[in-house]
Amino acid sequence: MLSQVTNVDEMYAGMKEKLANVVPDVELHYKAEIAVEINKLKKERNAVILGHNYMEAALFNSIPDFVGDSLELSRKAAQTDKDIIVFCGVKFMGETAKILNPSKKVLLPSNRAGCSLAESITAADVRALKAKFPGVPVVTYVNTYADVKAESDICCTSGNAKAVVESLNTDTVIFLPDEYLAANVARETGMHIIFPTRALTPPPLPQGEGAGGEGKMIGWTGRCEVHEKFTVNDIETVRAQFPEVAILAHPECSPEVTAASDFSGSTSAMIKFVQDSKAPQYLVLTECSMGDNIAAANPEKDMLRLCMVRCPHMNTITMEDTLNALKLDRYIIDVPEDIRVRAARAVQRMIEIG
Ligand code: 13P
Ligand code: SF4
Repeated sequence: MLSQVTNVDEMYAGMKEKLANVVPDVELHYKAEIAVEINKLKKERNAVILGHNYMEAALFNSIPDFVGDSLELSRKAAQTDKDIIVFCGVKFMGETAKILNPSKKVLLPSNRAGCSLAESITAADVRALKAKFPGVPVVTYVNTYADVKAESDICCTSGNAKAVVESLNTDTVIFLPDEYLAANVARETGMHIIFPTRALTPPPLPQGEGAGGEGKMIGWTGRCEVHEKFTVNDIETVRAQFPEVAILAHPECSPEVTAASDFSGSTSAMIKFVQDSKAPQYLVLTECSMGDNIAAANPEKDMLRLCMVRCPHMNTITMEDTLNALKLDRYIIDVPEDIRVRAARAVQRMIEIG
């Protein structure tokens, strides 16, 4: 495993083996040196590194002890017995790690790794919704800060949102804060959706199974600033050029985009789809680095990327910053204990659903 390697030549050879088709040698030499420094320090400090699927290819394929989507990494964070968790991801992910494993020190390599969804809603907003719809269960996407999770009954990720909503066995649910994820889940679960905070209710949903069903979902109008940018026109234009391309969209994309795609799922579900299928080309409508990571793991597959759309938050996490995180003990993620305890209930309840 490269995450344990502390010899530069061995690291370079290992990175080269995995990344020859996506990262030029000159960068591999440079990053192999940083990677071994990180691994040495990681061992000295008894730390574990978790790497989200969106990390850039050299980082993703060298230093993380575990890689995955939000759900998989939150499970790893909960289980680790190391003293320090370095989260190569964004702040809400670091907070989730702290919520689940509070005795550990959690470090986020950048203090600029936010998320437009997490910024879109406050704990006061959730309290106001609960007052307006008393007794209605609140499902909150993990892409939120701890105080918002603390106001919620249960969390979900893109990997389990449908299962979480169905587990509640209710005909009305408050689903926050991503309007597109909500609309996609509403379609899958046969619910119709309303947005009490804006005049346009309900928003136009594509025709299809479940749209406008019996159950009611109460949504919020947060959006992922990355996935909201992909359009049906992008899909049509790519298909005109590559008629047999398989197009995969993250469920934070609009319902029109997910409906026009061949598959929609969490970051790990998209990776698995490419691994398990045989199309002449693939395009993933998500952060572009993940296209590199899939291409590296599947050199025989032809991956297209739309790199005009990037996540500015995930992209602040670099190998240099990860080294500094371990050297300088930064940036420490803390969650006030009263909030943590309430947020942990919602996250734990999600984890138990599987
Ligand atoms: P996943 O839970 O699918 O890894 O997604 C996290 C995220 O931030 C997507 O933009
Ligand atoms: Fe947040 Fe979107 Fe970036 Fe994911 S891709 S971290 S949802 S801004």
